[in-house]
Amino acid sequence: MDNLVLVILTLSCVMQSEGWLYVVIGNKTLLEGHPNQCFYKGLGYMNAKDEKIIPNECIKALCREDGSILFAGCGTHLSERPCKMIKGDLTQDYPECCPHAICE
Ligand SMILES: *[C@@H]1O[C@H](CO)[C@@H](O)[C@H](O)[C@H]1NC(C)=O
Repeated sequence: MDNLVLVILTLSCVMQSEGWLYVVIGNKTLLEGHPNQCFYKGLGYMNAKDEKIIPNECIKALCREDGSILFAGCGTHLSERPCKMIKGDLTQDYPECCPHAICE
């Protein structure tokens, strides 16, 4: 069991090296009568497998079939070389809106 958890954690790190992931379980009351949909304040209802970018934040929300939402945010990139951080462009979609490090 512990091994399985470790494998899943390792896999999700490999697949999503861009940043953090966070899952919010759907609210049953709000999802009643909305099969295969998710609800998130600020985004409203979205269909399963749909993706939306949260306005003014570089966060992607992905609706899952069980009504939960997977949020993906930007990562922090560490480097040994001197790097300049370029501020993210919020007019772009995730992950293009994330801050980038430009290294010499
Ligand atoms: C779910 O949403 C309803 C309606 O907005 C709210 O009253 C309830 O507290 C919520 N439940 C949870 C667990 O957040």
